[in-house]
Amino acid sequence: MASGDNDGSSVSGRLRSRDLLHAGLAVALLLGVWSVDGLEVSTGKVSSIEAMNGSTVLLPCTYSSCIGIQNLYFSWKFNDNGTHLKLCEAEIPKEKVEPKVHVYRDRVEFVGSSKTNNISILLWNITFEDEGEYICFARNPKEKNRNHSAIFTLIVVDQMKEVDNRLTILIVSIVGGVIGLVIIIMVIKALVVHFLMKDSEKTKECLVSSSGNDNTENGLSGAKADNKGTPKA
Ligand SMILES: *[C@@H]1O[C@H](CO)[C@@H](O)[C@H](O)[C@H]1NC(C)=O
Ligand SMILES: *[C@@H]1O[C@H](CO)[C@@H](O)[C@H](O)[C@H]1NC(C)=O
Ligand SMILES: *[C@@H]1O[C@H](CO)[C@@H](O)[C@H](O)[C@H]1NC(C)=O
Ligand SMILES: *[C@@H]1O[C@H](CO)[C@@H](O)[C@H](O)[C@H]1NC(C)=O
Ligand SMILES: *[C@@H]1O[C@H](CO)[C@@H](O)[C@H](O)[C@H]1NC(C)=O
Repeated sequence: MASGDNDGSSVSGRLRSRDLLHAGLAVALLLGVWSVDGLEVSTGKVSSIEAMNGSTVLLPCTYSSCIGIQNLYFSWKFNDNGTHLKLCEAEIPKEKVEPKVHVYRDRVEFVGSSKTNNISILLWNITFEDEGEYICFARNPKEKNRNHSAIFTLIVVDQMKEVDNRLTILIVSIVGGVIGLVIIIMVIKALVVHFLMKDSEKTKECLVSSSGNDNTENGLSGAKADNKGTPKA
């Protein structure tokens, strides 16, 4: 930290001491960098999409260039586990001139248009293998072949998820029903015990004491077994 700060101050100090010629040179260099950075490739605000298997998705990509294009080369590649498979490529000779697109993969369709600087593609009937990164690449010879690319991520989700949810709801309702049934049985049992209590005066005290034990020993599992045996005997 400290050494870095020292370097920074010494650099700025040197810059301050330098003459106007050097400053002018730096500005010229910056302008040069700017003018070279003419082309921009973008997949839009959303850089990923979730789609169901079997559906057809649009992989969006547009370009823009302030210095104009000439023989703009573009391609779409799929990052398949590190290896880049080329899906399609083309050259746009001039602005507003539609490219002749070479498509190398099944289910890939070019749907862009030079009129709207659109180089999007459609991917038909997606499968789980299609999940991954799609790279929209463009190179404009007008700016010293600088490479530009944008990445779009496709996530393939299973259609069965909805069914799974329904299954979960089914299981939950079955479990709920069983618990409800158990509660009803317990209530009936309690009522039966209650009526038995009323029936015979002699056994009443015994049952009351045993049920009292049951209530208090709910948490103590160890003594429970012994107590359960006593009413039977
Ligand atoms: C999506 O995948 C599931 C499970 O792999 C499969 O059962 C279903 O048929 C697939 N849907 C389509 C439209 O391919
Ligand atoms: C490719 O993916 C598999 C599993 O999906 C993985 O085991 C393998 O290491 C990956 N290979 C490379 C080159 O990334
Ligand atoms: C996509 O699937 C549908 C129905 O399975 C089929 O008719 C169509 O030809 C497929 N499209 C492509 C481009 O594979
Ligand atoms: C590019 O073209 C496709 C197909 O016509 C369209 O769906 C998409 O919205 C366009 N994208 C932009 C950014 O104009
Ligand atoms: C652009 O990418 C290509 C390979 O696709 C490479 O050969 C070339 O050197 C790159 N150009 C620059 C200026 O990085």
